[in-house]
Amino acid sequence: MLEEIANLEKQALTTIADAGDEQSLEEARVQFFGRRSRLRQILSGIGKLPGDQRRSVGQAAGAAQKAIESALAVRQQALAAAAEAGDAIDVTLPGRRRRAGAPHPLTQIIDDLVSVLAGMGFSVADGPEVEDEYHNFDALNTPADHPVRDLHDTFYLRDGRLLRTHTSTVQIRVMESQPPPVRVISHGRTYRRDTVDATHHMVFHQIEGLYVDRGVSLGDLKSTLNALGRRLMGERTNIRLRPHFFPFTEPSVEYDFSCSLCGGTGSLADGSGCRVCKGTGWIEIGGAGMVDPNVFAAVGYDPEEYTGFAFGLGIERIAMICHGIDDIRLFLDSDLRFTRQF
Ligand code: DAH
Repeated sequence: MLEEIANLEKQALTTIADAGDEQSLEEARVQFFGRRSRLRQILSGIGKLPGDQRRSVGQAAGAAQKAIESALAVRQQALAAAAEAGDAIDVTLPGRRRRAGAPHPLTQIIDDLVSVLAGMGFSVADGPEVEDEYHNFDALNTPADHPVRDLHDTFYLRDGRLLRTHTSTVQIRVMESQPPPVRVISHGRTYRRDTVDATHHMVFHQIEGLYVDRGVSLGDLKSTLNALGRRLMGERTNIRLRPHFFPFTEPSVEYDFSCSLCGGTGSLADGSGCRVCKGTGWIEIGGAGMVDPNVFAAVGYDPEEYTGFAFGLGIERIAMICHGIDDIRLFLDSDLRFTRQF
């Protein structure tokens, strides 16, 4: 009989532990602990047992009873806790919406520019931000004693390399790596040792274009920039070129787009002066020109056979004009209150 009690207890404990819900637990209770269960039978029969068995059977049955009782209680509690946790998920509550991120305003302008220029057949080239003096200056027809270098003061590494002051470096790297024709754009970070204020930063972004082939003319440059302006600032945008100087282009120009706010008139509907173009009707965009023969010589292109144009522009400047932003520092502050507006 002692063996039977031990078996009963073992069977009861596994059945109880396996009970997956309140109902199967109740069934287990009835089976092993109910009024008509075998254990109850044994317990109520103890008194009729011969004296020598009474004590040992009584102890074993009593212990089994306790073990089963507490196993029932433990399992009961576990099931109740699980049920409560299940209740905590209210499937009727509205979902929690995650805030979707968006590209940085500068990235958005870059994407726009790249897609417009890619549509004109330009492919994107990349170059290092840590450059050598040769690619940033010398190969771009800017020798060490050239005064233009003063405007491009930058940060130097101990080994003599520098943080590039413009994306024009990529013109050289691309032409060194392939024969003409070339039709590439390149964009990225550029650096200068400028004092930071609302319109200057020591870190900014440029995009650069280069087109080299037989018979490329200033007219091609103008029509390319005009198309770019129209796609960027609206179909009525006009362009104007002003003579300028860059060491790596000849002739060189600065180019302006007509102001998109006042339509190039310089004044607004209420007669006041346009605040975007300061009443001039034009917005200064960037520099451009025909690639200087000395630059072709530096990369081994024949200037008698090939001509090309190049242009550059500042991404921050375009973003500031397009969005009416008056402080360039906002772009690098990583303040979500600013970037979330785009
Ligand atoms: N690299 C010039 C700058 O940062 C901008 C520039 C001017 C780029 C003329 C050009 C160009 O490609 O042809 O001031």
